[in-house]
Amino acid sequence: MASTTHLSLWEEIAKFGVPTLARGLTDAEAVQMTERYGAHNYKPLPVNIVRGDGAEAWDGSGKRYIDCVGAYSAVAHGHLSEKVVASIHEQLERLSLTSRAFYTSEVALFMKGLAEYCDLDMVCPMNTGAEANETCIKLARKWAYTVKGVPEDQAEIIVCDGNFHGRTTTIVGFSSEPGYKKNFGPFTPGFVTAPFGDAEAFEAAITPHTAAFLVEPIQAEGGIIIPPDGWMEQVRRICDKHRVLLIWDEVQTGFCRTGRRFAWQYEDARPDLLAVGKPLGGGIMPVSAAVGRAEVMEVFKPGDHGSTFGGNPLGAVVALTALAEMELEDFAGRAVRAGERFVAGLRSLESPHIKEVRARGLLVGMEVQDEVDSYELTHNFLHFGVLTKETRHRTFRFTPPIVIEDSQVDEAVERVGMALKALV
Ligand SMILES: Cc1ncc(COP(=O)(O)O)c(C=O)c1O
Repeated sequence: MASTTHLSLWEEIAKFGVPTLARGLTDAEAVQMTERYGAHNYKPLPVNIVRGDGAEAWDGSGKRYIDCVGAYSAVAHGHLSEKVVASIHEQLERLSLTSRAFYTSEVALFMKGLAEYCDLDMVCPMNTGAEANETCIKLARKWAYTVKGVPEDQAEIIVCDGNFHGRTTTIVGFSSEPGYKKNFGPFTPGFVTAPFGDAEAFEAAITPHTAAFLVEPIQAEGGIIIPPDGWMEQVRRICDKHRVLLIWDEVQTGFCRTGRRFAWQYEDARPDLLAVGKPLGGGIMPVSAAVGRAEVMEVFKPGDHGSTFGGNPLGAVVALTALAEMELEDFAGRAVRAGERFVAGLRSLESPHIKEVRARGLLVGMEVQDEVDSYELTHNFLHFGVLTKETRHRTFRFTPPIVIEDSQVDEAVERVGMALKALV
């Protein structure tokens, strides 16, 4: 560490500043300190990232990696996007946090910009993806009671097998992953599960008490599971027929990741409510939102919902700058082109260890054969300088920043090939 031992941590911070202090830690010290003081709710790969730039990251020894995790799709703009960073510097000359007890011009602009970007009417700003979904759940329930006429406390929301919507107790309560919910009950009632990508089964699950269908257009955490063509449109029609709200959770698929602004735009499947997050924070800070049609959003009255940091001027500036960059730098087109290159590259490896490559845009999943030791493969990826992690169904996720360059895609693919070849 960059300090003398007799100084307290607070004195060291005062003397050196936190970034310098952090830079003084070795990788081993950072790992050890995390394991000692951090709750063990994650099992990180054994690499300590000290710097990021675009689609690349470095550990403390100076080893360079291609970042194919991209903070689970949140770092779409690359690490430390210049424009986003510049907007932060500029905003920090003026104002960063007020709470929603007051109006601020930045948040006003943010809500207008996000509503327009999403082709919807109104926005309820939050911070995390889970909160965006919780907000949608509350909106849908209140809409069911006050507009649709469902008897009090009887509202049902249909969700899908294999879903991932976050980690709150309500949300894990309707997860189908035993590991996410074991020992965390009792859970919130009012959720019904249907198979993913099956419109008929969804329709069969609808009752007069159904408020909404909450679903991802592609199950990303669930293993990059892409539903059949036409399913989104069918779901939209079924929702209209039964007066059920359609809530797309595009926290991971949204903002050009799949090659459109939103994955639902591949079909005529406009949502009533949309949960967004991750890249909305420009790869820098948490910004999320529930966005929706006015008829639904207007059920919220003062006091119904809130968040101290949800809708703060700094986050608003970051998000709007991030949106403008996505739009002006053609993130949708870039995701299509980079995704095609990535997929073609992975397929051209012709590795016997690859079972299937599934992708839409730059949301790429590589499923490996059952006999592959995925622990070994993950470590091979690290050895060859590729950051990636397994999702469910033995599928490795490649969600690098959308700003990744062709040469970096090629390099990542080549390294994936080496990692697969090195399997014993
Ligand atoms: C589809 C989806 N919804 C919600 C979430 C939760 O987002 P957060 O981790 O920001 O709460 C995620 C995170 O991976 C996600 O993929």
